[in-house]
Formats: sequence, C-alpha cells, structure tokens
Amino acid sequence: MVGTGPHLSSIMMPYLPLGLVVAALASGDQPRPSVRSCQVCHRQIVATFIQTAHFHTSAEATRQSVQGRFSEGHNVLRTGVPGVYFRAEGRDGAFYQTGVDSAHSRSRTERIDLVIGSGRRGQTYLYWRNGLLFELPVSYLTASRRWINSPGYPDGQIDFERVIVPQCLDCHSTSFPLNADRRAARYSGDYQLGIQCEKCHGPGEAHVTYHTSHPADTLGQFILNPARFSRDRKVDNCALCHSGARDPLRPPFSYRPGAVLDEYLALPSVGQTPVPDVHGNQVGLLQRSKCFRSSPGMSCSTCHDVHRPQRDVAAFVPKCLTCHQINQHPMAEQIGERMMASCIDCHMPNRRSRAIEINTPGSRVALYYRSHEIGIYRDVTAAVLRSPVEKRNP
Ligand code: HEC
Ligand code: HEC
Ligand code: HEC
Ligand code: HEC
Ligand code: HEC
Ligand code: HEC
Ligand code: HEC
Repeated sequence: MVGTGPHLSSIMMPYLPLGLVVAALASGDQPRPSVRSCQVCHRQIVATFIQTAHFHTSAEATRQSVQGRFSEGHNVLRTGVPGVYFRAEGRDGAFYQTGVDSAHSRSRTERIDLVIGSGRRGQTYLYWRNGLLFELPVSYLTASRRWINSPGYPDGQIDFERVIVPQCLDCHSTSFPLNADRRAARYSGDYQLGIQCEKCHGPGEAHVTYHTSHPADTLGQFILNPARFSRDRKVDNCALCHSGARDPLRPPFSYRPGAVLDEYLALPSVGQTPVPDVHGNQVGLLQRSKCFRSSPGMSCSTCHDVHRPQRDVAAFVPKCLTCHQINQHPMAEQIGERMMASCIDCHMPNRRSRAIEINTPGSRVALYYRSHEIGIYRDVTAAVLRSPVEKRNP
C-alpha cells in the first residue's frame, strides 16, 4: 500500500524533476521482450512466475485486474465533509471514479486506466491525461474489502491532481519510458507493466536471439544471473525497490542489475528514519539482524525464490535450519511442539507499519508486515506461548 513514508513524502509530491526526465530520454529504452519470449525455453519458471505479486503489481484496468467492489451498496466512500463523497462504477467493461460535492452541485468523473498493486493488500488506480498519469482519489483495501482515500489525498476534497512520478512506476513496472518534446514530458505508450524477468536479469534480447539459433548450447549466454553477483550486488538488485524511499541520483529506469545501487539512489539521510519501516524496507531491516551481519553469504535469495509465490510461512523454517539447530535452542523445552509452527512468528513477527497513513473518517486501518529484523522479541514470544497450540499465530 502506498503510504506517507516511503511513497508519499518524497515520491508522490507533485514534482517531476525535468532534468531527470530529459536524461531518461538519453538512456534510450528499446522495446523489450516480455515473459512470453522466455516461455519457450523456461516453461516451468514462467508458469509459476506469472502467479507472483511481482508479475501482477501493475496492469491495464480489466475485470480481472481491478479488485475493488463496484456493486450497489459497496461502491461509495463517504468523507468527513457532508455532501462530499466518491462513487466507483463499472459499465461496458470500463471502470470509473466520480467525486461528488452535492452542496455545490459539482462532480468529476475519471476512468480507471491502470492498476497499481497486485491486491495482496490493496490497489491504487491511475488515469491518463495529456500523456501523464494521475492517481485517482480513491484506493481499495482488499483484506477489509473497502474503499479508502488514496494515500496523500486529504479527506473531503474532490481532488484528482496528484501526478504519478516515474519512481512509482520504476518500482511497480518493468519499463515506462518518458518522451519529452519541446513543450512537455509525456509517458510513452510503449510501456511494460508488471515486474518481468528483465527487471532482475537485464536486457534479454541478445540471449533469446542467441539461444534460438544455437539450440544445442546449454550454457546461458548474454544474460545476467544474480546468483553470481557479489552479496552486495545481489541485495542491490532487490534494494532498488525494497529499501524504502530514496532520492534519485540518476534517471529512473537507468539502473541495471549488477550495478552499484548507491550511485543511483541516495542513501537515506541519517536521523530521518531511525528504524526502517516494515513496509517497503526489508533490506534496511534485514541488514540490522545478526543473521545477516554474521553470514557473509546471506542475501534475499537465501530464503526467497522470486520465480514462484511463497505464501506458506512454515515453508521458510527449513531455511533457518540450514544455519541453526533447534535442539540447541535455549528455550527448546518451553517451546515444545510450537517450535516449527511458530518459528517465524517469534523471530520475524508481523509489525504495524508507521509509514502508511490511512485517513478515512470514522475508522483507523493499520497494515502489518513481516519484520525482516530477525531477532529476539520477548513480548511476542510471551504472546505466542500463551496462545493455544493448534492455532497458528496470525
Ligand atoms: C531459445 C531458448 C531460450 C530463450 C527463448 C530464453 N532462454 Fe534463458 N536460457 C536458455 C538456455 C539454454 C540457458 C542455459 C541453461 C539453463 O540455465 O537453463 C538459459 C539460461 C538462462 C539464465 C541463467 C543464465 C546463467 O548464466 O546461469 C537466465 C537468467 C535466463 N536464461 C533468462 C532468460 C530470460 C529472462 C529470457 C526471456 C527474456 C530467456 N532466458 C529466454 C535458453 C533460452
Ligand atoms: C522493480 C521493483 C522490485 C524489484 C527489483 C524487486 N521487487 Fe519485490 N516487490 C516489489 C513490489 C512492488 C512488490 C509488491 C507487489 C504487489 O503486491 O503489488 C514486491 C513484492 C515482493 C514480495 C512479496 C511477494 C508476495 O507474494 O506477497 C517478495 C517476497 C519480494 N518482493 C522479494 C523480492 C526479492 C527477493 C527481490 C530481489 C531478488 C525483489 N523482490 C526485487 C518490487 C520489486
Ligand atoms: C521504492 C519503491 C517503491 C515506490 C517508489 C512505490 N512503491 Fe508501492 N510498493 C513497493 C513495495 C516494495 C511494495 C510491497 C512490499 C511492502 O509493502 O513492503 C509496494 C506495495 C504497494 C501497494 C500494495 C500492493 C499489494 O497489493 O500489496 C500499492 C497499492 C502500491 N505499492 C502503490 C504505489 C504507488 C501508487 C506508488 C507511486 C505513487 C508507489 N507504490 C511507489 C515499492 C514501491
Ligand atoms: C525479482 C527479480 C527476478 C525476476 C523478476 C526474475 N528473476 Fe530469475 N532470478 C532471480 C535471481 C535473484 C536469481 C538467482 C537465484 C539464486 O541466487 O539462486 C535468478 C535466477 C534465474 C535463472 C537461473 C536458474 C535458476 O533457476 O536459478 C533463470 C533461468 C531465471 N532466473 C529465469 C527467469 C525468468 C525466465 C524470469 C521471468 C519469467 C525471471 N527469471 C524473473 C531474480 C529474478
Ligand atoms: C545463512 C545462515 C543463517 C540463516 C539462513 C538464518 N540465520 Fe539466524 N543467525 C545466523 C548467524 C550467523 C547468527 C549470529 C549468531 C551469533 O552471533 O552467535 C544468527 C542469529 C540469529 C538469532 C539471534 C538474534 C539476536 O539478535 O541475538 C536468531 C533469533 C536467529 N538467528 C533466528 C533465525 C531464524 C528464525 C531464521 C529463519 C527465518 C534464521 N535465523 C536464518 C545465521 C543464519
Ligand atoms: C531468513 C529468511 C529471509 C530472508 C533472508 C529474507 N526474507 Fe523476506 N520473508 C521471509 C519470511 C519468512 C516472510 C513471510 C512470508 C509470509 O508471511 O508469507 C518474508 C516476506 C517477505 C515480503 C512480504 C512481506 C509482507 O509482510 O508482505 C517481502 C516483500 C520480502 N520478504 C522481501 C525480502 C527481501 C527484499 C529480502 C532481502 C533484503 C528478504 N525478503 C530476505 C524470510 C526471509
Ligand atoms: C515461542 C517463540 C519461539 C519459537 C517458536 C522459536 N524461538 Fe528462537 N528464541 C526465542 C526466544 C525468546 C529466544 C531468546 C532465548 C534466551 O535468550 O533466553 C530465542 C533464541 C533463539 C536463538 C538464539 C540462540 C542463542 O543461543 O542465543 C536462535 C538462533 C533461535 N532462537 C532460532 C530459532 C529457530 C530457528 C526457531 C524455529 C525453528 C525458533 N528459534 C523458534 C523464541 C522462540
């Protein structure tokens, strides 16, 4: 979900750094092959990859991709201002948001063109105007199945003017080139939604061409495999999007896997965020844990296979056991049969995000994320030990 921290304060503010926009042009993105072109030879990987949140993190608005509720009784967001409300409607296969100010007989309607967010937690919707993208004022939370003010929009105003800056799309799509003519910057129509193979493996055209004409060669050519990067470069490859909000030093979409990320994104300024937030900053948190600091080989791939969905928390426990032995656990006796089922809940507990602010009147919504600061949480342990054994901790 978008929030005030990583997303809004620096990213969503209506600024479009023109220097960077123009520089992005120079970096000259050519059309890139999609997952389909990899499928011929990597059938298994593609079959599971297309089920992941990465692949679905942005899409054209369709009946399948838009998860918000449009049926009567579920499609209105009331605000704190009497007479001001938002309505979501679907007709003829298209979806719309309308802001209504009945006291002043004003309303405004825009179509939902693009969807950001796989919907694991929520979705934000965008619309096109004059070659730029704007955030629609109402977003959707999937768990509570409700509409909320889009992060960054104040409650009770009919406002559709938050421009989508390239950083947002750099984290939520594969490529989204900018064209700047003499008068204005515009997004090109030649974009690639979803996070696809090339975001982590670099351009794949030469690889596809080579292997198509050399079917007997079983050694991958002209493609990057992050497994052979140094640990820092491996982590950088995920940190492009998982190290929170950082000011750009170079144009969006110019980072290539294997490069030094700190040359593309400024380090978070000291004191700005004393503890990284659980939302969007798994890198910052993992780097604080003893596991990471004491294991020079540990990276995100130690636990994650990004080519398939991994939703079973218990399935991560064997990863811990490659380095730890439970028979040496200092609390083995007390923990007893909960050892495996609660391993992650005790040491990587779900924590509330402080970065996400949901300002819908009348209710507070908090979002929880797994903390990657692997450590000892005595309060959490006490709660887990009090809970019934059969029940797996939420
Ligand atoms: C015509 C067949 C073919 C196509 C199409 C193809 N690959 Fe490959 N790829 C191979 C072969 C053969 C290998 C070497 C054996 C292996 O690792 O599976 C390979 C290996 C790789 C590797 C590992 C390279 C290494 O150094 O270990 C990556 C990553 C990869 N491919 C990504 C892609 C991506 C991304 C696409 C789509 C843009 C793609 N491939 C399309 C045939 C293909
Ligand atoms: C281009 C940006 C980008 C890169 C690079 C990236 N991620 Fe992500 N990642 C995201 C976004 C955005 C989401 C949220 C997708 C959604 O639910 O809409 C996400 C979600 C995830 C999830 C949760 C998946 C789920 O099913 O809920 C995991 C795990 C993850 N990323 C791990 C990684 C790892 C490991 C790497 C590096 C190998 C990586 N990511 C690289 C942007 C990125
Ligand atoms: C620095 C990279 C980055 C930027 C910039 C960014 N996001 Fe995200 N976003 C993420 C990551 C990573 C996740 C999922 C993991 C997490 O929340 O910890 C995510 C999650 C989301 C989700 C929830 C997806 C789901 O179903 O769980 C939405 C919606 C979203 N972002 C919208 C936006 C919008 C809209 C913008 C720009 C206006 C934006 N984000 C900018 C990295 C980014
Ligand atoms: C979010 C980043 C990310 C995306 C997207 C991604 N990969 Fe990978 N891929 C990796 C990482 C990281 C590794 C190395 C894993 C390791 O260290 O063992 C890898 C390894 C590979 C390999 C080497 C063999 C193997 O199984 O480890 C192949 C082949 C491959 N990827 C193909 C693909 C294809 C095809 C796609 C798109 C359908 C894709 N990848 C999408 C991050 C990614
Ligand atoms: C690549 C190896 C590796 C993996 C995988 C790993 N750890 Fe660790 N972990 C370590 C090392 C090394 C230490 C530091 C030991 C020391 O300093 O004595 C450590 C420390 C810890 C500590 C002590 C933390 C503290 O602050 O005192 C806990 C708890 C822990 N790990 C739990 C886990 C859990 C749970 C998992 C799986 C989610 C896991 N580890 C995965 C290597 C690993
Ligand atoms: C020691 C194992 C381990 C390592 C290393 C690790 N993760 Fe995770 N990660 C987990 C576990 C366990 C979950 C929880 C899965 C779940 O709840 O479905 C998780 C969940 C996530 C999620 C989803 C968070 C949420 O609450 O929605 C993201 C995003 C993610 N990891 C990214 C990363 C990135 C990026 C790295 C590298 C900086 C990384 N992880 C390293 C074990 C690990
Ligand atoms: C009910 C909660 C709970 C469960 C389940 C649990 N732990 Fe722990 N673990 C703790 C607490 C609390 C400590 C600190 C104990 C102490 O210092 O007295 C600890 C300590 C540790 C340490 C540090 C050991 C040391 O000698 O300092 C490691 C490593 C560890 N746990 C790994 C694991 C792994 C791996 C699992 C799952 C396979 C697991 N734990 C399951 C609560 C738990």
